[in-house]
Amino acid sequence: MFKFNFSANDLEFDDPELANQQDDDQLDELSTPLESLSVSPTPSNLVPASLLDLQTETCLHSLPLTLHYELAHIPVLNQGSGAASAIAIDTKTGKEQEVVTLYKRNLEDVKFQIAQEDDNFGDDEPQNATNTVTGPGGVEMLALAGKSDLVKGVYEGGLKTWECALDLVAYLAEQKENYDGKKVLELGCGSALPGIYVLTRSDTVKVDLQDYNDQVLKLVTLPNVLLNTHWRPDQHQPADESDEDEEIDTKDDQDVADGDQDDDEEDDEFEEPEADPADGDFVSVELDLPDSDEGKRALVSKVEAQSRLFMGDWSGLVELMAFNNDEDKYDLILTSETIYAEESHAKLYATIKNSLKRGGKALVAAKTFYFGVGGDILSFRRLIEKDGVFDTKVVFSAQAFVRREILELTFKA
Ligand SMILES: C[S@@+](CC[C@H](N)C(=O)[O-])C[C@H]1O[C@@H](n2cnc3c(N)ncnc32)[C@H](O)[C@@H]1O
Repeated sequence: MFKFNFSANDLEFDDPELANQQDDDQLDELSTPLESLSVSPTPSNLVPASLLDLQTETCLHSLPLTLHYELAHIPVLNQGSGAASAIAIDTKTGKEQEVVTLYKRNLEDVKFQIAQEDDNFGDDEPQNATNTVTGPGGVEMLALAGKSDLVKGVYEGGLKTWECALDLVAYLAEQKENYDGKKVLELGCGSALPGIYVLTRSDTVKVDLQDYNDQVLKLVTLPNVLLNTHWRPDQHQPADESDEDEEIDTKDDQDVADGDQDDDEEDDEFEEPEADPADGDFVSVELDLPDSDEGKRALVSKVEAQSRLFMGDWSGLVELMAFNNDEDKYDLILTSETIYAEESHAKLYATIKNSLKRGGKALVAAKTFYFGVGGDILSFRRLIEKDGVFDTKVVFSAQAFVRREILELTFKA
């Protein structure tokens, strides 16, 4: 069964190397002809792009009654830069570390929800592939997700949070940009922490989120948006406050979301994450959502005021968005851990190219190489450079067993 290759020290943040780390001389001629950059029609077996209607009963009912979540403490790149939302104590070194704190669900939380709501779902193969919460195929997809990081064209890894998503949050936090009135898109968002981080920075930013699987959008993306914006645990009494052996100081003056964290002193512990830092080792508590459809509808309406959720394959997404002019397009496009399959590079690149505003930028966070699947950042960069439309620059890199980078794309002058 395929698993991405990650190492134990993947969350160690080096000093950012803001210089372009790639040797441009190495960018050989592309073997792929330019005309192949056009997006091919969606094969019938791929999920077609569409807008997810958050107000449907299916979508409302996929929200759990009890929302289990974790706290992800993401170390900021430049300690002391004022980019942090909290200070956490690293229990191994005993040192204070400035972190951005976001709430997130994980795969186990989702499985727990499904198991509670459908007796047919367990650790074994599902008895049937339908479930009122996940919809047709959802149970099957979740069972697969427990065993494999991705099943191409079926499940693309969005139920977990991957390391580069945390890099992207750390990088965005360091940039301290003003997002007021901006339009942002996160492609292949999964748990969507980068897009959600941007959402928490402004009441007037629009952040659209896209994932291949509607189940990911319903069970992880939407709950994560709610947890970090309109249904924040620090504004509501958690149903279970059993994890009390932890320690975190929340800064009064640098809150995550517009002044709402005044006197909070939460009891969390920052533990240096282990093998899969993005997917575990964080505090787990639970929160009760409104159980009436009206209550959920009201929450979802708040999400809709700033975000649209798109599902399905990248091919067809730009047509679906039907931009009238350049102003309709996005100021910032974010994407993390989405270049692992080289055969998807052209359609991902075409989506970025055709939905980014002139003067905007795209940030692609990725590992330099994906063992087992073959995608790599160099070949993605070659594709872009061959097209000749964008300048590319590595704006962040972290040494680890597999090196991680953030590639910035801006239109050539
Ligand atoms: C490994 S996950 C990364 C999720 C998230 N960005 C993160 O870093 O935690 C890869 C994501 O890419 C998206 N993806 C992969 N291939 C896709 C395709 N052909 N069309 C649309 N989305 C795709 C999936 O939605 C999936 O969530």
